Amino acid sequence: MNHFEPSQGVMACESVPLPTIAEAVGTPVYVYSSATLERHYEVLRDALMAAGLGRPLIAFAVKANSNVAVIKTLARLGCGADVVSEGEIRRALAAGVPPERIVFSGVGKTAREIAFALKTGVAEINVESEPELEAVARIAAELKVRAAIAIRVNPDVEAGGHAKISTGKADSKFGVSFSEAARLYAAAAVNAHLDPVGVAYHIGSQIVDLGPMEAACRKMRGLVEQLRAEGLPVRRLDLGGGLGVPYFDQPDPPGVEPYAAMIARVMQGLDVEFAFEPGRMICANAGVLVARVIHVHRRPEGRNFLVLDAAMNDLIRPAMYDAFHDIRAVKPRPGEPVLYDVVGPVCESGDTFTRDRLLPPLEAGDLVAFMTAGAYGAAMASEYNTRPLVPEAMVKGGEWAVIRPRPSYEDMLAAERPASWL
Ligand code: LLP
Repeated sequence: MNHFEPSQGVMACESVPLPTIAEAVGTPVYVYSSATLERHYEVLRDALMAAGLGRPLIAFAVKANSNVAVIKTLARLGCGADVVSEGEIRRALAAGVPPERIVFSGVGKTAREIAFALKTGVAEINVESEPELEAVARIAAELKVRAAIAIRVNPDVEAGGHAKISTGKADSKFGVSFSEAARLYAAAAVNAHLDPVGVAYHIGSQIVDLGPMEAACRKMRGLVEQLRAEGLPVRRLDLGGGLGVPYFDQPDPPGVEPYAAMIARVMQGLDVEFAFEPGRMICANAGVLVARVIHVHRRPEGRNFLVLDAAMNDLIRPAMYDAFHDIRAVKPRPGEPVLYDVVGPVCESGDTFTRDRLLPPLEAGDLVAFMTAGAYGAAMASEYNTRPLVPEAMVKGGEWAVIRPRPSYEDMLAAERPASWL
């Protein structure tokens, strides 16, 4: 469900026609719907609560969309933040997320980042290895605090929409094995500077099949019971993120109700506080990337290249994960659909969004929208080819605001300086 629908033949975000924003800000530009963001958070929260999972800590995975306005929109509803760097902790705090709703994940936290998280007082640091546990204990001792930690377990389950976003197999860099988790948890329990609050897993992203998740959930339940049988307290079970969203021509993901029902079934009778780290399912459908057609290059030999002013540096998912985003004409022209290869201006053949896509006829100057682009879109954008970082706008009802302006070329060049010998 999203709030990007045509109104009198022109696609709008809530009540704002996309051309209004494209003309004022220029293209390419990301446009987010507050109503969709809010709805997705509320639908997930309500489904989890209705399934009997208590009042879970829902920590939005900030990496999916790191804009402070996006985090703030969710934080105002009580949503927390799952963060993976000091920068993301700072973003979450700037957006008003209380420290006790911040979960700090990531395989390689630096000493500085751990100290920053401890001073902030985050809900838990998800520890992914023994050296990291040692580092957290040492830094907590130096700071004279007790660090709330959870052990991230790698449940050795294959899941996720693409090899590059699957994280739960035993040979991936994420987390520790079950036997290691039990050993580290016991060690943490007897360390005066560590407060082991629970265990965590995250097996991958864009998961469209509940089977692997269920297998991982069962293993996690077993671990909680094993730890408790050893006399160790386990307060929280963090079930990560990973729920998929519908992309163009791809299998449909399960809804939040079956997801919540599966967890409730597996966890029945287990008295823990649940935590979740959803990213994509909250924000993917809440955003589109609006681009303008620079020209149509019609090869006499047959191919039609739709050359856009958006490129792989603005939306890298097709190049990086072979991802397919639905592409729609913002104001479809009448006429027979045409087969296009949709490309950007960057000098790499990887800068191809899709080939042989049937779209309404398009001409230079027309606007198109990449759908489901609110997750891992702007957050992964770069200035490659010295293209200004793509701006972002947010809509609420009939209002809209620029939430990250496009930098000027002067801003971009001012960030660099010649070395003294030049
Ligand atoms: N928790 C942890 C520890 C994670 O590593 C991730 C995502 C999430 C939560 C959120 O997962 P989600 O609910 O969004 O699936 N750039 C890729 C996706 C990378 C996901 C990385 N980790 C893409 O564009 O598909």
